[in-house]
Amino acid sequence: MKPIYMIVACSENRVIGKKGGGLPWSIPEDTAFWKEKVKGGIMIEGRRCFEELGGAFPDTDTIVLSRDPTYSPGRVLTAVSLPLAIELAQGMDGEGPIWLCGGSTVYEEGMALAEQLHLTRVHAEVEGVAFFPDWTSDFPVELDRRDSSNDEYRYSFLVLGRPD
Ligand SMILES: NC(=O)c1ccc[n+]([C@@H]2O[C@H](COP(=O)([O-])OP(=O)(O)OC[C@H]3O[C@@H](n4cnc5c(N)ncnc54)[C@H](OP(=O)(O)O)[C@@H]3O)[C@@H](O)[C@H]2O)c1
Repeated sequence: MKPIYMIVACSENRVIGKKGGGLPWSIPEDTAFWKEKVKGGIMIEGRRCFEELGGAFPDTDTIVLSRDPTYSPGRVLTAVSLPLAIELAQGMDGEGPIWLCGGSTVYEEGMALAEQLHLTRVHAEVEGVAFFPDWTSDFPVELDRRDSSNDEYRYSFLVLGRPD
């Protein structure tokens, strides 16, 4: 079985997306980190995220979630539910991992399914309309941490695991 991980960047007040779509910050180091992490694996993401990113990344298989069974953006796989997307991903070639990449409802459902949370914690309170659910009881164990910053933000790359 391929491992299932969640990957997200969220602020201190758990914001992940701003009004009108997009990230509430510009942190090129995190964008590069995220692309490198998912490379070679299988991304599962909601339709809005997929459309916002303007398509799939090279070298990364992508499954887009939409409740519309006729949704067909071309050259990527689609699924009408997260369990079906995971089943599809588990049946694909390669060793994964499977990356749950948001948005909010994918993270809410994924909280019970993922074995690790790869969290970039942006140490700021920001305004936004899309949120990451509270993860602290599901992923209380810090497996790895690297602190970094740019001119505007301090942030930490965390790998969090489930209780022993
Ligand atoms: N900071 C981060 O790490 C991060 C990560 C991801 C996203 N974001 C931000 O979050 C925002 C987008 O997230 P969002 O929550 O608004 O939208 P989203 O999850 O990307 O897309 C929502 C759509 O995806 C489909 N969908 C979602 N969950 C589904 C499920 N369980 N089963 C079937 N279809 C499902 C539905 O499509 P249909 O309407 O077609 O049925 C739904 O309307 C953006 O601002 C983005 O930049 C931030």
